[in-house]
Amino acid sequence: MAKKPLNIGMIGYGFMGRAHSNAYRQVSQFFDLEYRPVLRAACARDANKVKAFADTWGYESTETDWRKLIARKDIDAIDVCTPNNVHREICEAAAAAGKIILCEKPLAMNGEEGRAMVAAVEAAKVPNIVWYNYRRVPAVTFAKQLIDSGKLGRVFHYRAKFLQDWTISPDLPQGGAGLWRLDVGAAGSGVTGDLLAHCIDTAIWLNGRIDSVSAMTETFVKQRPHTLTGKVEPVGIDDACAFLARFDNGSLATFESTRYARGHKALYTFEINGEHASIAWDLHDLHRLSWFDHRDEGPLRGWRSIHVTDGEHPYMNKWWVPGLQIGYEHTFTHQVADFLEGLATGKPAGPTFRDALDTQDVCDAVLASAKSQQWTPVAR
Ligand SMILES: NC(=O)c1ccc[n+]([C@@H]2O[C@H](COP(=O)([O-])OP(=O)(O)OC[C@H]3O[C@@H](n4cnc5c(N)ncnc54)[C@H](O)[C@@H]3O)[C@@H](O)[C@H]2O)c1
Repeated sequence: MAKKPLNIGMIGYGFMGRAHSNAYRQVSQFFDLEYRPVLRAACARDANKVKAFADTWGYESTETDWRKLIARKDIDAIDVCTPNNVHREICEAAAAAGKIILCEKPLAMNGEEGRAMVAAVEAAKVPNIVWYNYRRVPAVTFAKQLIDSGKLGRVFHYRAKFLQDWTISPDLPQGGAGLWRLDVGAAGSGVTGDLLAHCIDTAIWLNGRIDSVSAMTETFVKQRPHTLTGKVEPVGIDDACAFLARFDNGSLATFESTRYARGHKALYTFEINGEHASIAWDLHDLHRLSWFDHRDEGPLRGWRSIHVTDGEHPYMNKWWVPGLQIGYEHTFTHQVADFLEGLATGKPAGPTFRDALDTQDVCDAVLASAKSQQWTPVAR
């Protein structure tokens, strides 16, 4: 059967622009779907750079103004891969133009912006999704299946960390490509919105909603040169954040993130302890899921390391043969596949903008708690 084209307009050609383009190019070869992404146009402000990006990835055309891209009749879906401070404006305009929207995380700069974006896509009735891609690491999806099957029993504890070490040097500037993450005006927050948002999205997906939090944050380097202004300016982001949380299901959690954990590059880990069993996962070894089951026979009881590469494991029968692992980039391909499947069936893949708003609200509560030094309920 001929596939239906889904014409993509990509905004931003940085880290995520590349990761998503790779996913659009791969998905139709590995997943049998009704829709086929077509790389119709790439958009960014620098004409030469966006042309080079378009040539590398096979986009048919370029734009330097995202408003022009959104106005184009030959574009069905807008993919937002820009820094966080422009997500809202682009998404609201895209929704008003009736475009499908795939937006990078965090959804917005804060909950207030996020709520406006949810209202915009829901009023326009446009399909939408946010790129919390770690849900689609096969081992993480497998963890979700194990939890949903009830094998853990009552959950007592959730523990997550996301550790990096790339901003320790005080000479590192803030602002501009990649480094916009250190500029609160572009990022909204530091590790909370950038890294903990991933941990929170996974946690809510696996263990349900978070009720309240108690947080602390620190900015270790208080001022940095700004790439765009050339001046030394105060740093407004949180360099590190740790918080305690209570879930609706009664379980207790700890979350920690920093860019000052010397030796760690992208160490995202989580562990869940239930009445009967525990699960642990580590991004540096992403195809493995650690599993402990107290119901195993006494002397043989212990932690198993499951190589999540079997045809029965989530997504794996689409790739190679059992035992051969896949990697980081495939999580984006899985997200595109699920999104296209959702378009075809009318059962939307998550996280939608509305789902991602829950994470935004937890981030807001975390930052508010760090400021007030009080336990803080999460807005509903
Ligand atoms: N899902 C993930 O794991 C993940 C990983 C990294 C980044 N992200 C998110 O993706 C987004 C982009 O991050 P990145 O690492 O790709 O950043 P990046 O700095 O590598 O790229 C950003 C791109 O946006 C473009 N841009 C900025 N302002 C623009 C504007 N007004 N109009 C058009 N283009 C504009 C820049 O030219 C650049 O091409 C952020 O929201 C970030 O939080 C998500």
